[in-house]
Amino acid sequence: MTKKPLVLVTRKLPDSVEARLSEYFETILNPDDRLYSRDELLQLAEKVDAILPCHTEKFPADTIALLPDRIKAIANYSVGVDHVDLDAAREKQIIVTNTPDVLSDATAEIAILLMLGAARRASEGERLIRNQQWKDWSPAFMVGQQISHKRLGILGMGRVGQVVARRARGFDMKIHYHNRKRLDANREQGAIYHSTVEELVSEIDVLSINCPASENTRGLLNGQLIAKLPAHAIVINTSRGVIVDDEALIDALKSGRIAAAGLDVFNGEPDAIHPEYRELDNVFLLPHIGSATEETREAMGFRAIDNLIAIFNGIEPGDRVA
Ligand code: DGY
Repeated sequence: MTKKPLVLVTRKLPDSVEARLSEYFETILNPDDRLYSRDELLQLAEKVDAILPCHTEKFPADTIALLPDRIKAIANYSVGVDHVDLDAAREKQIIVTNTPDVLSDATAEIAILLMLGAARRASEGERLIRNQQWKDWSPAFMVGQQISHKRLGILGMGRVGQVVARRARGFDMKIHYHNRKRLDANREQGAIYHSTVEELVSEIDVLSINCPASENTRGLLNGQLIAKLPAHAIVINTSRGVIVDDEALIDALKSGRIAAAGLDVFNGEPDAIHPEYRELDNVFLLPHIGSATEETREAMGFRAIDNLIAIFNGIEPGDRVA
């Protein structure tokens, strides 16, 4: 590289990541970590050669169409790329990359936390203490479900799904899964494959959603599918909110049709999530922190930088998605 390309970094990244980025690129950083409006984003993008955004910045087709032609890449700081219209990027010859692998452990940890939190009524218990309402202990108090030896259904057995399966085996859970393609025996590790999602949900106790958001998975967990879950079922989502039909899930949680849910991702997040989730005792809620560990934040940044370096050296980036 002769002259350093200019990269727009839309959010505050770890200092180590920003420092490494500036070894290779000129940068426009966002030290205040302000969420840019679409207009601000387009204005900041005017002179840059690449953008390093998070899922908080949206790139639908009409935004991509307005990006200057000089922009070579959108190197996402995320594994999910549902915030970018990939067809529109291809059409405009913008290379799009993501950051797979490096967040699988962190996200799987949150899936396990959600599973335990939902099964053992953690939110409810914590609220009792914080609100000074814990007055008694009895054998009937705060009885939840044990997850050990239960059947875990993993919807989307990709990188994160496979780590969730590994961690869950530590609880002696029996792993079932549905995936577009069946895994080979080595990666399956004895997990039971279901060729349809309908079959999967009827044979499990806990459902962990780990598939990416796409047109095929939007609203996948709807009323019809929920009706096939057993009554004691627990639903966990660490992927994207759009995969869940909120009204249907909330109805099922309110009526006792299913036992509980643990959610880290939501339709309308952060500030326009379905308000009824806040009212329900049988949901364990987290604010999209699946990948929020120091190690993973740094690794995501380095991965995005590696992708950018490859692109500006005319090499195919490792994590190209468009
Ligand atoms: C991801 O990487 O997709 C996480 O959800 C954070 O954006």
